[in-house]
Amino acid sequence: MANRQDSHHHAHIVGWGMAVPDHVLTNGELTALVDTSDEWIRQRTGIAERHIAAEGETTSNLSLRAAQAALEVADLDPSHLDLIIVATVTPDHIFPATACLVQDALGAKKAAAFDLSAGCSGFVYSLSLAADLLAADRYRNALVIGAETLSRITDWTDRSTCVLFGDGAGAVVLQASYASGGILSSVLGADGSGGDLLILPAGGSAHPATAETVSNRQHFIQMQGQQVFRFATRIIAEASRQVLDQAGLKVEDVSLFVPHQANDRIIQAAARALGVSEDRVFSNLEHYGNTSAASIPIALCEAIEQGKVKRDDLIVCAGFGAGLTWAATAIRWSLPLPVPAPSRRMTVWRWLHYRWARYRSWWRRLWRKIDAHLFQILYDQDGRRKRRGRDV
Ligand code: ACO
Repeated sequence: MANRQDSHHHAHIVGWGMAVPDHVLTNGELTALVDTSDEWIRQRTGIAERHIAAEGETTSNLSLRAAQAALEVADLDPSHLDLIIVATVTPDHIFPATACLVQDALGAKKAAAFDLSAGCSGFVYSLSLAADLLAADRYRNALVIGAETLSRITDWTDRSTCVLFGDGAGAVVLQASYASGGILSSVLGADGSGGDLLILPAGGSAHPATAETVSNRQHFIQMQGQQVFRFATRIIAEASRQVLDQAGLKVEDVSLFVPHQANDRIIQAAARALGVSEDRVFSNLEHYGNTSAASIPIALCEAIEQGKVKRDDLIVCAGFGAGLTWAATAIRWSLPLPVPAPSRRMTVWRWLHYRWARYRSWWRRLWRKIDAHLFQILYDQDGRRKRRGRDV
């Protein structure tokens, strides 16, 4: 980590990982579902293929795999995690939070856990929040995940949306340290007047699920693509400039932009507006499509893997999405790369820990049943201890 020490804490990314489903759906295969073509999708979006979750593969499964990979890089014991945030618009359930399912599966027994919903900006929102909590000395280790199974809320009969989305998860481990660098600044924003431009209309309190909402296809993503497009091209450049201003830096200082991967034309327009050359903008949209909250952490993982990140580099991540929301963060990369392999002892320990976590979860469920049974025997309806023998 960077040598310079400050008198207060900074949040540093010390681990990262990603997970995508094995199944790949190509543009060619989509032509069998809707009236579209490989040429149209590539030209208008830059997408060639996307990963689609298999039956039984969920947002929590993908989150868990990405989290385990990130903990491996960080070489961290999962029980040392203080906080888990899952940014998602496709949680396993409306409640409990997907973060709680991940917390249980990781055996992160002292971690607080919750989901954050900010559309495609969710990961940067979560990263910023976790970084502030670490900088405020509230926590030492946080796990921030962006994960989606958008295929579950995609209308596979609507060609204007179904060609865009994919499934996946990306995670980072944040650690508090006195070393300077790490997350330097963040900008978060929202404009709820655009909420209807990108919406899952039913399933919430406004339109609970009914036979009618199902037959009207209101449980699928609805989007005004062109309006979102216009908003996105403006806001990525604006938020990136603001976050750099806040950190006292300039566009020229940035080594790599990692924008939300929604559409190559949006990425290029934002790069032009910022005056950044293509080689400083990361894009992997071609192979994943738009994975919403997962897109930035997946892109960050691949940028690191491809050697595009070095110690002391300045990275700017910027996202936009449903809400409407936007978020940008400036990161001074503080870890030397490549990271040394995790210690064998810790890898074995984590392997054992995950198995123990499964047993622990099973035991806690069982104990809850036994406890409920004992309670019924020993206590009355008002929670008062039942008396032995007969009242006189
Ligand atoms: N295949 C072939 N033709 C298509 C398809 C398709 N898949 N989709 C639309 N078309 C047609 C339209 O019907 C229209 O035909 P018409 O001229 O005969 O009416 C024509 O192509 C042009 O349609 P537009 O909507 O104007 O196409 P545009 O160039 O705007 O591209 C797109 C559409 C790709 C959706 C673009 O607007 C976009 O990327 N918007 C931003 C989306 C986004 O970034 N969402 C992010 C948030 S996701 C989240 O938060 C979960």
